[in-house]
Amino acid sequence: MRTLYRNASIFDGERFVTGNLVVDGERIAGIGPDCDPAGCDAVVDLGGRHLLPGLVDVHVHLREPGFPQKETMATGTAAAAHGGYTTVCAMPNLNPAPDSPETLGVELDVIRRDARVKVLPYGCITMGQRGAGELVDFAALAPYVVGFSDDGRGVQSEALMEEAMRRAAAVHKPIVAHCEVDELLRGGYIHDGDYCHEHGHRGISSESEWRQVERDIALAERTGCQYHVCHVSTRESVELVRRARARGLAVSCETAPHYLLLCDEDLHEEGRFKMNPPLRSRADRDALREGVLDGTIEVIATDHAPHTAEEKARGLAGSAMGVVGLECAFPLLYTYLVKPGMLKLERLVALMSLNPRRIFRLGGGLQAGAPADFTVIDLGASYDIDPGHFLSKGHATPFAGWRVEGRTMLTVVDGREAYRDPSFTK
Ligand code: DOR
Repeated sequence: MRTLYRNASIFDGERFVTGNLVVDGERIAGIGPDCDPAGCDAVVDLGGRHLLPGLVDVHVHLREPGFPQKETMATGTAAAAHGGYTTVCAMPNLNPAPDSPETLGVELDVIRRDARVKVLPYGCITMGQRGAGELVDFAALAPYVVGFSDDGRGVQSEALMEEAMRRAAAVHKPIVAHCEVDELLRGGYIHDGDYCHEHGHRGISSESEWRQVERDIALAERTGCQYHVCHVSTRESVELVRRARARGLAVSCETAPHYLLLCDEDLHEEGRFKMNPPLRSRADRDALREGVLDGTIEVIATDHAPHTAEEKARGLAGSAMGVVGLECAFPLLYTYLVKPGMLKLERLVALMSLNPRRIFRLGGGLQAGAPADFTVIDLGASYDIDPGHFLSKGHATPFAGWRVEGRTMLTVVDGREAYRDPSFTK
């Protein structure tokens, strides 16, 4: 089957050019302004809309195996396709946690059976994803995982993390770290700032994050391990990563849309504003934006973390940590960073597709011979974010009701449609 996608504004790796894309089976056969339409079985007119390389989210919680009441592989990956993602990297806080070839095999079976987009699992760093105790068998897991993470928990012991980095380096996989010093948490659940104090909550200090980032960067230097920091939320963490990169270390980091667009001044007494790390101060938010602009932060991930409605209905103090993000990340960032002129659209595509592909060595992109993984966005379509329209089981987002521009019309994975907007007809 050969399909011509015509009349699109196509990202050529640097800029958008008007042209066509031909898909032959699972792969891109040709791309560009002069692409030959001869010999195609089907033609899809994209009406001048933007065609982007499939977005990549290196930080999602798909909840299966273990917690299908929160999300399933089918609903989580349907949400990903709806958001324009063709590849997602799945965090290991599952049951069973993927800490051995057998337990990882359970997850891989679910992926093979139900995933609508490409799902690359992380293996745990520690047995049972406890952030402590015994390390996993890195060599046994390495062929099947994108990297190693205990996301949801920081690895508390420096000696254990150093050994984990040595073993990850030996199998050429990154350590992807949730940084959190448990003894600095002191029962906190939102940022230890003005809102917290004024409303009588218990705070999570910035130091609980950046202390471990600081420790890990030193360990990455000592061990030569590739090191990626999850969901950076504090200005101190940004500065630590900036200095590490200036010294040429193999250190990268991600942040998420909520840390770039919100701060603790935006908090309400509702569970949909609660995640870990928490929304920090305005100065932190601005430092993260600066980090994105100067290239310190190379990746925007969502930390899509669905929970049941009941688990999110217990206010700031009692709700589970985590918000969903796959289905509104691109339109939010496009509307609130690109449209006001803070960030170029091309840079947003780099942060959400090109950079994660490069850092995690995933290949792909829009070129002849690559897998046909792409998404088509109508940048002119505006609407209010309505969690009732999400395909995810999770509906908790601080962005409910926000006006955005940019609607996914089509997401194609390996040449097959993974999502098509009901309003989009050939
Ligand atoms: O908010 C969060 N939710 N942060 C995490 O680190 C874990 C995640 C989850 O799994 O729910």
